[in-house]
Formats: sequence, C-alpha cells, structure tokens
Amino acid sequence: MTLYGVGLGPGEADLVTVRGKRILEGADVVYSPGRLSRTVALEHVDESAIGDLEFPMTKDEETLRSAWKEAAAEIAPNAREGDVAFVTLGDPNVYSTFGHLRRTIDAFHADVDLEIVPGVSAVTAFATALGVEIEAGAGLSLREAANGASPTGPDRLILFKVTDAPATHEGLVEAGYEVTYGRRLFMEQGETIVTDDPAAIDERDYYTLAYAEKADLDVERATAAFETDDESGSEEGSTGGEPVADGGREVSDGLAARERAEGCEGGDCGGHR
Ligand SMILES: C[S@@+](CC[C@H](N)C(=O)[O-])C[C@H]1O[C@@H](n2cnc3c(N)ncnc32)[C@H](O)[C@@H]1O
Repeated sequence: MTLYGVGLGPGEADLVTVRGKRILEGADVVYSPGRLSRTVALEHVDESAIGDLEFPMTKDEETLRSAWKEAAAEIAPNAREGDVAFVTLGDPNVYSTFGHLRRTIDAFHADVDLEIVPGVSAVTAFATALGVEIEAGAGLSLREAANGASPTGPDRLILFKVTDAPATHEGLVEAGYEVTYGRRLFMEQGETIVTDDPAAIDERDYYTLAYAEKADLDVERATAAFETDDESGSEEGSTGGEPVADGGREVSDGLAARERAEGCEGGDCGGHR
C-alpha cells in the first residue's frame, strides 16, 4: 500500500485538487504536520482519520532529525498495511516539510511505496491573487526574504517568508524594484491582504510573500496594439471590420512564420509577448 504526499493548495478547501481529495477520502490515516494544513484536511475527512504529528519549533538539526525519524516510524507501518496521506500546504515538493519526511522514509523504511499528488503552490497562485501576469518567455526566480532580507538580481522575483516587510521593502526599492505583497492568499484562515505598502503588513505573519519586478523592465507585448487613442475603435479604422489577425498590428513575416511553425494559430501557445 502507499504513503501519499498530498499538496493541499494555498489554504482554501476547494483549491485541493480532485485527485488530492480522492486520496484523502480513501486514506486510513491523514497525517498533518501543522494547524493550518489540519484545518484544510478536515474539510475533506473526518477528524477520526487525522493523525497529528509533533514537530518542534527549532533549527537544531539533531532535534529535527529525531522528530522526523519518529514521524517516519509512526507512519511507515500504517503505509505498509494501508493507504495513508501526509498533507502539506501548497505543493509537497516546493519548500515543503514533505521533503524531510520523504528522505527519512527513503533512509529507514525504503520498502514503503510513496506517491506525490501535486498541489496549487503559492509560487503560481500569487500571480492570480496579485493580478500579475508572468508572460511566456519571462524569467522568474524564487527566493527567501526572512528577517528583512532583500535578495536582488533577477528581473522578477517571488520572495517567500517575508517576515519583516518594511526592511525587505527598503532593500528592494533601493535596488530598483517595484514590489507587491500578498498575505494569506486564497486562505480561509486569517485576513487576505494584497498591498504595495509594507507598512500595511508590518506585523509578522509567516504566510506573506512578495512579488518584485524591476521598475525599468521594458516588456513589449503583441497585444499593445489593442491600446488605441482612437475613440471610435480600432477595428473600423484599420481593417473595415474584417477579422483581425495578431491584433491588427504590423506583424513581421518572421513572427508570423514562427507562430505558424509553433502551431499557435489557435492562440494557445503563449509563445510571444
Ligand atoms: C515553506 S513555504 C511553503 C510553500 C508551499 N509548499 C507551496 O508550494 O506554496 C512557506 C512560504 O510560502 C509562502 N506562502 C505559502 N502559502 C501562502 C499563502 N497562501 N499566501 C501567501 N504566502 C504563502 C509564504 O511566503 C510562506 O512563508
């Protein structure tokens, strides 16, 4: 039988995937490493199915190793006899506690079958919550900004663990970034905040991220041609109401040819900006 690592998504119960829900409903035990993941899991399974695990709030590696060994020793026998799940917020393979459990199981209980069910990660959910579009071709880096850190360099950054937003903000603005913050995005517990004012979120909350983009980024979008000063509308003036390919702009032969080569006629490839 199997140990499933199930990603619960950012925190709203209906953002658990259909597969994740099915696995949770069929599991003999659903192990939860924290209060928030427990609350989300409880929307899908009865409390009697929940197996709470204790993890000490410490950075001491020895203490953490023994906690993971204990957790693995509790989970492994149940995963040999039946199906069990270990839930994490977001995706189990992105900055997640599940990685520790997986490695400990691999080291001490290698016969246990293990499967992972991906979840909606804050890495992608932030874009919708903050109204940001990461266009095809754009680079995007994920970093940590705990305790006021301001990692800089790439054009676009997602920063996790923004625990001191004013200090992080100072460093980012100095380095030429525009920043938007998101707190408790798509979460049922606590207040969701989206703001570009670090003072509005100066109170520490672990579930805070930031999206930083270089202020001088020059993004050329194909659809820029839709933005027109002509109040009568661009369609009549330029094409006489005929269907317009590529937004009616001048398309270079090269771009048109590339779109065809990539099979983009249906507009589904997102391959150009
Ligand atoms: C250890 S990482 C866990 C990431 C998770 N496994 C995922 O895939 O989304 C925790 C950090 O992710 C960010 N985060 C996770 N969920 C969030 C949410 N719902 N709203 C805002 N930030 C979130 C925060 O920056 C937090 O400090």
